[in-house]
Amino acid sequence: MNLSKNQDILIVGGGIIGLSLARSLRNRGVDKITILEQNECGREASHAAAGMLAPQAEADCADDFFRFCQESRDLYPQFAEDLFSETGVDVELDRTGTLYLAFTEKDAEELENRYTWQKNANLSVEKLTAKEVLEIEPNVSPDVLFGLRFPLDWQVENRKIIEALIKLLPKQKGSVQKPVNSDGSFSGKARRLLLEGDRITGVETDLGVLSASIVVIASGAWTSLIEDKFNLLSDIKIKPMRGQMLAFNDNYKLFRHVIYSPRGYLVPRKNNRILVGATVEDVGFDNHTTGLGTVSLLNTAFEIAPEFKNLSLKKTWAGLRPLAADGLPVIGAIPEIENLFVATAHYRNGILLAPKTAEILADKIVGNADSKYLEIFSPRRFRSEAILS
Ligand code: GLY
Repeated sequence: MNLSKNQDILIVGGGIIGLSLARSLRNRGVDKITILEQNECGREASHAAAGMLAPQAEADCADDFFRFCQESRDLYPQFAEDLFSETGVDVELDRTGTLYLAFTEKDAEELENRYTWQKNANLSVEKLTAKEVLEIEPNVSPDVLFGLRFPLDWQVENRKIIEALIKLLPKQKGSVQKPVNSDGSFSGKARRLLLEGDRITGVETDLGVLSASIVVIASGAWTSLIEDKFNLLSDIKIKPMRGQMLAFNDNYKLFRHVIYSPRGYLVPRKNNRILVGATVEDVGFDNHTTGLGTVSLLNTAFEIAPEFKNLSLKKTWAGLRPLAADGLPVIGAIPEIENLFVATAHYRNGILLAPKTAEILADKIVGNADSKYLEIFSPRRFRSEAILS
């Protein structure tokens, strides 16, 4: 489809995916954009995240998903620079790199395998002895066996990205004020897609109907709760996966790198905080923190660095990651509804994948440009054959 000047786009979901898409569409000349958001923009998974841009640290092969992650990471320096020039917000892209540490024989085997395949694939990875780890991060536990360093796996302050993207909203005739603005922006919960033949005409919300020429569903963990007569979104079966997080005060700047073990990670932030994450829990739409979650994250932190026992624990929170049945993102046109698109199921990589997702989807919507990733991650793979025939 090629967008004509008069078409308006409704994006359902104001997380980092929906907001990044709004920006990419605006950069391609689309000025009628409305974001429908049930809470406040960027207050769910995008707020809860730890901002790691780490395609290599956890990858066990160079598949399409890995390449998609890598390409999105590679967009980040320009994305961060552009957001700064567009909004004055520094999103704190930190390129110190990521360390992945082994503490047990099993960890060591996992890391050896990762090192071997990535080295053979000519990826940037360094193997460090325990002594070398302690030279660059002296507050890591002396029990460390060895580590891998990924110089191109970075971190960013995800909440600053949201701040920047929200700043761009008023300029695009869409915003998030309640209940309805004269420019068409809306705050509410999407209930049902309004379908007529092979087209979507709008979305029914708890506060009324929003009409649009093109609709994009970027509702994260809530995607499959939106109803329609063909079960287009419920068939994708996105479910929420809770991630609990901790934040410690750190006035001593104990760490420079993002540091993983196979049991979790810590992320040192500029504002004297260290984040520790994250649980992965299948508990429905419950975003509370629990005693068990906190204890398991504390154990992760103590194992990486016993010094955590002396830091003050400032905050705990949790977010709901959107997970599809096959664990992969769902991005692209909904089959046979020609003006309906989806961008969701980024699971543990929503921050990392936002720029690339926004680029390929905006190119598709505005210029009908194809991308191999729109094929690979197409929602077609969840379609039940009966519904649209
Ligand atoms: N991105 C890391 C996590 O979801 O825990």
